[in-house]
Amino acid sequence: MRILITGGAGYIGSHVVKALGKLGHEITVYDNLSTGFREAVTFGELVVGDVADKEKLDKLMGEKKFEAVLHFAGSIVVPESVSDPIRYYQNNTINSHGLISLCHKNKINKFIFSSTAAIYGMVEDGVCRERTPIAPLNPYGWSKYMTELMLKDTSAAFPDFKYVALRYFNVSGADPEGQIGQSFPAATHLIKAACEAACGKREKLQLFGTDYPTTDGTCERDYIHVTDLASAHASALDYLVQGGKSDAFNCGYGHGYSVRQVIDLVKEVTGVDFKVDELPRRAGDASSLIANSDKLRKATTWTPKHNDLRTIIKTAYEWEIKRPY
Ligand SMILES: NC(=O)c1ccc[n+]([C@@H]2O[C@H](COP(=O)([O-])OP(=O)(O)OC[C@H]3O[C@@H](n4cnc5c(N)ncnc54)[C@H](O)[C@@H]3O)[C@@H](O)[C@H]2O)c1
Repeated sequence: MRILITGGAGYIGSHVVKALGKLGHEITVYDNLSTGFREAVTFGELVVGDVADKEKLDKLMGEKKFEAVLHFAGSIVVPESVSDPIRYYQNNTINSHGLISLCHKNKINKFIFSSTAAIYGMVEDGVCRERTPIAPLNPYGWSKYMTELMLKDTSAAFPDFKYVALRYFNVSGADPEGQIGQSFPAATHLIKAACEAACGKREKLQLFGTDYPTTDGTCERDYIHVTDLASAHASALDYLVQGGKSDAFNCGYGHGYSVRQVIDLVKEVTGVDFKVDELPRRAGDASSLIANSDKLRKATTWTPKHNDLRTIIKTAYEWEIKRPY
């Protein structure tokens, strides 16, 4: 298929580009390189541009006649969305509106969207199902959920337009072949930051909140290997090609680890006892977010292959040590 991938030079997008490129799809990456890297694009063509530039995107769509769009481009740092919500609604919501309207205009009827577990907020037992009430704790979560709503309404009004929103839980790890990984230096993801501390690229690791109602007082998350997440996109695309209906699906493994458990395992895997600073809670963090992904597994052929925290940490650390870009 001819596929447009916005944000395909970023962490997750680049792993999806590789997965879909290996399957033989014709890929065009559209990315402004604000947090992405040219070197991360291992298949297809890279067009440097901003999703806000509708004229440029419209022209590209007219020329390339894409059959599907995968939309990764966005701003992703939760605390930043609390301090600068206007920028987050611009990049995540308004730019998505522009992209969806261009897809409609150019008759591109398959759309896969990077949504997030952050739309769920505080969930009583921490386990999120797709029917769990939507209650984001921060502008980031709202900015992504608003895009889900636009997709839902567009698909209801124009039934040929089909979308899948994949709600990612905590994405981590790196390509097991070592070709790509997470490179943005200001990334706030726990495993990435802990691996930076283990490599001596960060003086210490900050742990936010030790008084959450969890087993050890630190937040619990469901960590999904980025290569498994990439294959979930290939499965979601197949689902749409085979006539699957528009829908939202959780992407996680269904079990969680606390921040302390992750830190301990990073120390064990890397053999480095880095310094950890315990700080008060950070704005916008839910205590526990674990995916129930039964719906995705039932609807598609998705079969995760790297469901192991040690593997996730090992691949992230190996990438961090060599990080060529
Ligand atoms: N990393 C996670 O754990 C996680 C969890 C849930 C959802 N997501 C979603 O997944 C998507 C990708 O996240 P990521 O971790 O790969 O982040 P990333 O920052 O590595 O990738 C985002 C990419 O989009 C590009 N980009 C940003 N704004 C753009 C714009 N206006 N025009 C063109 N390109 C633009 C960046 O240059 C970058 O290459 C995001 O939409 C994010 O909200 C990520």
